[in-house]
Amino acid sequence: MTEKMDKKPIISLRNVIKKYGENLVVNKINLDIYQGEFLTLLGASGCGKTTTLRMIAGFEDITEGEIFLEDENMAGKPPYHRNVNTVFQSYALFPHMNVFDNVAFGLVEKKMKKAEIRKKVREVLELVQLTGFERRKPDQMSGGQKQRVAIARAIVNNPRVLLLDEPLGALDLKLRRQMQLDLKHLQQQLNITFVYVTHDQEEAMTMSDRIAIMNGGVFEQIGTAEEIYEHPKTKFVADFIGESNIFETSIHAVEEKMLKLIMEQGDVTVREQGFEVNEIAYLCVRPENIKISEFPVEGFNLKGIIKENIYVGSQIKTTIEMINGYLVKKTAFPDGDMKPAGSIVYLYWDDGKSVLMHTKEDKIYNYIESAEGGSIPS
Ligand SMILES: Nc1ncnc2c1ncn2[C@@H]1O[C@H](COP(=O)(O)OP(=O)(O)OP(=O)(O)O)[C@@H](O)[C@H]1O
Ligand SMILES: [Mg+2]
Repeated sequence: MTEKMDKKPIISLRNVIKKYGENLVVNKINLDIYQGEFLTLLGASGCGKTTTLRMIAGFEDITEGEIFLEDENMAGKPPYHRNVNTVFQSYALFPHMNVFDNVAFGLVEKKMKKAEIRKKVREVLELVQLTGFERRKPDQMSGGQKQRVAIARAIVNNPRVLLLDEPLGALDLKLRRQMQLDLKHLQQQLNITFVYVTHDQEEAMTMSDRIAIMNGGVFEQIGTAEEIYEHPKTKFVADFIGESNIFETSIHAVEEKMLKLIMEQGDVTVREQGFEVNEIAYLCVRPENIKISEFPVEGFNLKGIIKENIYVGSQIKTTIEMINGYLVKKTAFPDGDMKPAGSIVYLYWDDGKSVLMHTKEDKIYNYIESAEGGSIPS
């Protein structure tokens, strides 16, 4: 947890529900976003990211629940009365106006003095590295440059919060990577709260202080990139973020802080708490944490045969077939432990390098309910 967590939330979502007719697209979500935070909504297409962002911006009504901006209930407040600005994937620049006029537009509307407008526009264009482009029209610029203009236009009004919906979606991979870092640095420099939407997990992990993983209208987990990767709370999260081996297990015995697990692939003992005997659970082990030995290792009874080793430069990707046919993924540095294809091996991992997850819906749901406690603004 970062120091930001101690601060008061700037945005709070309380039991927010959105229905389109009978179609429930956002299902009672709770979220606190803190001043100066870079928070990303990450999830597959159709999971409700844009809808959530649009409800915060005020472009979309909420069916049930409440949204607070700086402790103020936003019920009935139109978008232009909310201290937020939105940047969309399509840049939505005025095509007939040059860069200067596009950026200055909001300030002119506010009837700011000309000299002041010139100063502010110059400042933000410098921030997005577009000094010298003032007279260009949007159709004389690249996608990345247009996106920078859209961002300059959004930040020139000094919003407290910037909402960004897949703003880099139209850019090629190389430019996208560069813009990810630029945007993150810009956010740090301005100390504006960013709520960012993407379906690209690498982008989310690169940029965010915290990530809220959305699936079917709910948050499966909210946390830092590291928390989510190292300690996924649900099978969905373990699958969605990075690669993982997921074993279905049943809890055979609970001893002190150790659990004996039985699975089709063999038995293991792990250090975990909060599970009951006979409960069915998922065990997740990241490929980089899988180790192999020629001999059985204490606490593990997981025998397999190396199917293949693939050299991909920075890594060796190994596939190990278990007795039930399940294929375990293992990655290692080229100088790490490796056995040729056909070798019989025993799998193990270091203490704490596996994560056990409940399968029961109610346990998962309890987690989601308690994930975002926080102070509820009154
Ligand atoms: N105006 C609308 N009327 C009816 N249904 C809608 C409307 N807008 C969105 N939906 C539905 O709500 C669900 C969530 O849509 P949303 O746009 O929030 O998804 P998303 O997570 O942003 O997806 P993507 O990554 O594809 O942009 C989808 O099933 C979508 O079809
Ligand atoms: Mg969307």
